[in-house]
Amino acid sequence: MMLERTLVLIKPDGVERGLVGEIISRFEKKGFKIAEMKMFKMDRALAEAHYEDHKGRPYYEKLINYITSGKTVAMVLEGDNAVEIVRMMIGKTSPLEALPGTIRGDLALNVTVNLVHASDSQESAKKEINRFFPSKGE
Ligand code: PPS
Repeated sequence: MMLERTLVLIKPDGVERGLVGEIISRFEKKGFKIAEMKMFKMDRALAEAHYEDHKGRPYYEKLINYITSGKTVAMVLEGDNAVEIVRMMIGKTSPLEALPGTIRGDLALNVTVNLVHASDSQESAKKEINRFFPSKGE
């Protein structure tokens, strides 16, 4: 077991649909600690930095427009094996692969408008925590 931190975003559709409590509640019940949390409207520069690996993909513009379209909740979750377990709890990116029991599997139906983001490795978690909580990172 490794005590880890990971970055989770509740995207604009999660805030808009009133699912912030439902989503946070799943993580809390699982046993994760909320180490940091804030709500804000992402600007284009931050969105482009966050999705830099996706630049040039056909869905890129749609992704940036969506993530900047309304308020997002960002949080740092802390717990054993947080990166892998949180990824498991949010479910796969493809709606056809997101299993029931996961956040996307239960609550989302679209590959872009998909409620949540979570860091996919310890390396991205460090980068993303520093990006969204610049004073709190390592
Ligand atoms: S992939 O395919 O391995 O790059 O997928 P993933 O690493 O999970 O991240 C993909 C993110 O881009 C968003 N997105 C899409 N992915 C694939 N196809 C389409 N059409 C698409 N549109 C948007 C997807 O929601 C993932 O966002 P995050 O916030 O990282 O989960």
